[in-house]
Amino acid sequence: MNSTGDRMSASAETKRQYEFMQKARALVSKRSDAIGRRLTFFIRTFGCQMNFLDSEKLTGILKEIGYEEAKNEQADLVLYNTCTVRENANNKVYGRLGTLKEIKHKNPKMKIVLCGCMMQEPTVVDTIQNTYPFVDLVFGTHNIYKLPELFVTMWEADGQIIDIWDSYRDIVEDLPAQRKYKFKSGVNIMYGCNNFCTYCIVPYVRGRERSREPKDILREAERLVDDGVVEIMLLGQNVNSYGKTLETKTSFAKLLAEVAKIDGLQRIRFMTSHPKDLSDELIEVMASSDKICKHLHLPLQSGSSHLLERMNRRYTKEDYLALTDRIKAAMPEIALTTDIIVGFPGETEKDFDETLSVVEKVGFDSAFTFIYSKRTGTPAAQWTTQVPEDVVQRRFDRLLATVQNIGAKKAEKYAKTVQKVLVEQVNKQDKHLLTGRMDNNSVVHFPGDASLIGQIVPVELAECRGFYYMGRLAEDNGEDS
Ligand code: SAH
Ligand code: SF4
Ligand code: F3S
Repeated sequence: MNSTGDRMSASAETKRQYEFMQKARALVSKRSDAIGRRLTFFIRTFGCQMNFLDSEKLTGILKEIGYEEAKNEQADLVLYNTCTVRENANNKVYGRLGTLKEIKHKNPKMKIVLCGCMMQEPTVVDTIQNTYPFVDLVFGTHNIYKLPELFVTMWEADGQIIDIWDSYRDIVEDLPAQRKYKFKSGVNIMYGCNNFCTYCIVPYVRGRERSREPKDILREAERLVDDGVVEIMLLGQNVNSYGKTLETKTSFAKLLAEVAKIDGLQRIRFMTSHPKDLSDELIEVMASSDKICKHLHLPLQSGSSHLLERMNRRYTKEDYLALTDRIKAAMPEIALTTDIIVGFPGETEKDFDETLSVVEKVGFDSAFTFIYSKRTGTPAAQWTTQVPEDVVQRRFDRLLATVQNIGAKKAEKYAKTVQKVLVEQVNKQDKHLLTGRMDNNSVVHFPGDASLIGQIVPVELAECRGFYYMGRLAEDNGEDS
């Protein structure tokens, strides 16, 4: 395993990969001619926004080399972009590999490709080698830009190809990408994570934190806007520490202010904010720009200062509450969402009660709640004071009920108001309805014509149904809501 190819400048590497794309195109075209139809591919993405953005890049490359997108795994090339943040993410992939084996049995020339965070774990790669020899290509998170080259190697080889790097080398810019939505897009501003929360595997599989140059980010954002994008989501594991690793130091607040200057860009979102690094400068920039959505995803993880310390989060319950107070004072309309882990090793009933109390005090608009999952290689995995499963489940159910209750009350407050909604798609269940999102990320369904997709329109929120709204197009522009 590990290290192939020389270190070289990012633009030379981009050029190199374009050369491999040409080669790959010729190979694909030859096969297509032989079988009398286009070859098809299907990508299934597990995990977070970062992985979904990577998958848009992988899609761009596969289309560039001549593949056509299929609707499901019945395809000539299937790629799984994997996640390993919790054990069940891994299990889902292993489960699906069984089905892929059967599909490949009927189509022996089919290619099966695995990449993403799970592949950065040596034990996973061993298992793939030993138990899933029908997988053709495995690569990791640090070399996804190498897909064109790896594709050619795979095509010309007999056995399984594995190329995993244990750390990143260059940030390679300017490879093709195929956006899922014409009107909105994610933009990576940084990669990796240096925080080493004691439960979390992400720093091990995504590597050390590094920021992209502001000029590269702004250039990408401008190009996206020229291409019809009205909403951009800036992405990183901890956007609030953006810029710290750059030669010319800068801050996330400064970057955000620059992005907000882009003409034609109407909405800016970002994920994820670590509470320890959220600055007053950022709160000011957010409050002063209409373009920046009034939504903050601010993972709490636990409301117990003792557990937060054991988690290495580097803030206390009091810090978190003071921070959310400052945010609310500057932006009373802010939607706050969060992530919470239940059953972290050593969690007592008292710790859990503190989590419930913070949830109530902050009044989150919504929260992702997770049962603690032991990840091999992380410090917490060695701690023996694991909480019994039935206790964890009871706490989880209580937390979920509390979170839902508070979220529903928060949502009810917007009923009957008019809100600006970015129309995203025709409703999947009822084609007479459109589905869109408010500034605060809430989902709204309303009757309308597909020609509105990609536009920001005023919608009256006629009825609140817990976590989403049913609405109707409004006459006014929603300014007064
Ligand atoms: N960088 C982000 C989170 C990335 S992972 C941040 O720090 O906020 C997304 C969420 O998964 C985390 O916020 C955490 O709540 C959850 N998570 C991470 N590791 C986990 C584990 N081992 N078990 C359960 N949940 C976990
Ligand atoms: Fe994981 Fe913590 Fe980094 Fe988030 S900040 S990715 S939870 S280590
Ligand atoms: Fe999963 Fe990797 Fe994201 S582990 S949560 S896909 S960074």
